[in-house]
Amino acid sequence: MNRPWLDPQLPEPERIQLLLGTMTLREKVGQMHQIANVTSTSQDEELRAGGIGSSLFASGAWAGNQQDAGVRVEGLNAVQRIAVEESPLGIPLIFARDVIHGFRTVFPIPLGQAAAWDPESVGRAAEIAALEAAAAGLHWTFTPMLDIARDPRWGRIAEGSGEDPHLGSILATAAVRGYQGDDLRDEGRIAACAKHYIGYGAAEGGRDYNSTQIGPRTLRDVYLPPFAAAVRAGVATVMASFNEIDGIPVTGSHELIRDLLKGELGFDGFVVSDWGAVGELIAHGFAADAAEAVRKSVEAGIDMDMVSGLYDRHLAAEVEAGRVDAALVDDAVRRILRIKFRLGLFERPYTDPGGGGRIGAIPARREPGIGTMPFPGRDRVSRPTNVQQTPPAGMTQPISIPESHRARARRLATRSLVLLKNTDSVLPLRTPKRILLTGAFARARTELFGTWTLDGQESDVTTIEEALRAALPAEVKLETKLFPDEAVVYGRYADAIIACIGEHPIRSGEANSTGTIDLPPGQLEALKGLRAYGVPLIVVVFAGRPLALPWLADHADAILYAWHPGVEGAGAVVDVLLGNESPSGRLPVSFPRRTGQIPIYYNHRPTGRPVEGGLRGGNRYCDGPDTPLYPFGFGLGYTTFEYSDLRLSSASMRTDGEIEIRATLRNSGAVAGEEVAQLYVRDLAASVSRPVKELKGFARIALAPGESGEVTFRLLATDLAFSRLDGSVGVEPGGFRCWIGPDATRGIEGGFDVPG
Ligand code: BGC
Repeated sequence: MNRPWLDPQLPEPERIQLLLGTMTLREKVGQMHQIANVTSTSQDEELRAGGIGSSLFASGAWAGNQQDAGVRVEGLNAVQRIAVEESPLGIPLIFARDVIHGFRTVFPIPLGQAAAWDPESVGRAAEIAALEAAAAGLHWTFTPMLDIARDPRWGRIAEGSGEDPHLGSILATAAVRGYQGDDLRDEGRIAACAKHYIGYGAAEGGRDYNSTQIGPRTLRDVYLPPFAAAVRAGVATVMASFNEIDGIPVTGSHELIRDLLKGELGFDGFVVSDWGAVGELIAHGFAADAAEAVRKSVEAGIDMDMVSGLYDRHLAAEVEAGRVDAALVDDAVRRILRIKFRLGLFERPYTDPGGGGRIGAIPARREPGIGTMPFPGRDRVSRPTNVQQTPPAGMTQPISIPESHRARARRLATRSLVLLKNTDSVLPLRTPKRILLTGAFARARTELFGTWTLDGQESDVTTIEEALRAALPAEVKLETKLFPDEAVVYGRYADAIIACIGEHPIRSGEANSTGTIDLPPGQLEALKGLRAYGVPLIVVVFAGRPLALPWLADHADAILYAWHPGVEGAGAVVDVLLGNESPSGRLPVSFPRRTGQIPIYYNHRPTGRPVEGGLRGGNRYCDGPDTPLYPFGFGLGYTTFEYSDLRLSSASMRTDGEIEIRATLRNSGAVAGEEVAQLYVRDLAASVSRPVKELKGFARIALAPGESGEVTFRLLATDLAFSRLDGSVGVEPGGFRCWIGPDATRGIEGGFDVPG
């Protein structure tokens, strides 16, 4: 068959139009149909008929909390070969997988990555994940997750960047650029997916999938910005979220998808539903039956149906009966084809099992077999390790993670660690003779990965115990005791106790909400036992969410918050404990003192009776403080920084202008360190009430002891824009305060005006 759309010289819209003009309705619907775990033997007829547009590879059973067998290049090629060579039009499939925080090289969970306040490292992590995933035959990842999360009971807070729209937007941009690069056709690039659009993180009670109530202004000013940033960065796809907002499931929302995302934001890629969400419109009570669910989803702008199978079953009939406009189907298919063309799938549909990237042809028909999941040719350096390498199921040979990938994972993990407490500078540890190591994470391997780690390998991980032993001088006695009662006995004789506690990854991520954010059962009791003899107690907390740590805040000597730090996590933690690295992570989310304070976030709106200086000394709770235990942006280092001399380039800014805001920072401690200086702004009075503080910029600055440096932030009038009373978005004249400081509660202050 003559296939003019295969001519790469033709402009993309023309290629799409040529192909679209040739397709039958059945084939169009096929492009909109995504199935799970396609194989060349079970779905060969459907593939031959052009009935499948995409497959994802993931087991639905534990929603990202259980590893599966992994993808195999040869298996994927075998599927692709049927679609490309045996179907009438030869449209390649797009293969997807949840590569959420790394593929084989597991980086910290996204919330930990956000704690690094380091967009460059986040971008590099995405780049490495893309490189490894592309080598395994994948074209598309379902990340970054851009949901603003203000409720740590919600297990999926682990997968995003926390509570702040600005930090979330900067990291969204970094991640999208990291996965996609400048051109999706380039080797080692994959399509990203901004998810879950929109409001999913606002689930009532922190219960996953739950309903949300989000005012229209909050939706635009808080929940939308990271998605808008991802669209500006050229994200190829967007996933609609499971939740409803004020009665309308996003999957069926014309206003949110077709009008706002595709219309106003100008998103030209395609929108995929979340897993089975088209069918779930029935459970939502938003559609009476499957056909109606399909109609409403297509009308809303869901271009691809993830695994519900309902487009496949009902869409053609709905179009033929005139109940769904055929133009909507064309629009969806055009979008899907656009991304397939942009990925270069028509030119290079296959992946070289030898690690040579995507290729145009496979030599001969190969049966799906055991693949090797190789890394790209460059950088194939193996790491000497004392950990036994066991080939995981489905792989024929153990392959090491390239050293440069490990170095990146180490750097990001190190920067993600947040030192919350350090009484009398107990850290870094100085010449202890005897250390007791305890807690369930002391010997953890895959537990260091965190939720949604489908492709990490246990054999790649060093434990905290191993890393500590390797780093400590031989004469230091390290005793690891996992039984709490035994640990208490040994702890008595130690110079320092390191307790590696927290929550197992199974407790965070999808469908894993918790009713309280207390430490999991038993751990506090064990810690209290260890405290009994006054030996310095250093607690390293591994978790997928902020946990409430009031007892630790009062009684531990040091608290290092490690999140789930990934494959290089143990080395990173040990580097910080021993002072090879100074901790520089900062909280991307407020840490409540206790569950009852939720939701608590720094960028709340003021009230008529502000907490600060208000009734009862500013406390509204009768049974405890209102404030967070640790505020947004907070984190200690091994040195201290002084902020001084706030300077504004002008005391006023035009409504289309900009100003520069600077401050001087001095390292006033005895060791080198890195500070994350943060710029906050408050709009004092406007047509609608504005948050008490909003992050508008941040900068990492490294200073030697005694050294001073300057941070400069460029603040544009557009950074001050918000949804005004009349619904338009823009800045309003008036007075503003600004702060540069180390967290959301401290800083040196200034002000400026935007004249009318
Ligand atoms: C999750 C998504 C994920 C998808 C595919 C869903 O259950 O909500 O985040 O990308 O499954 O695995």
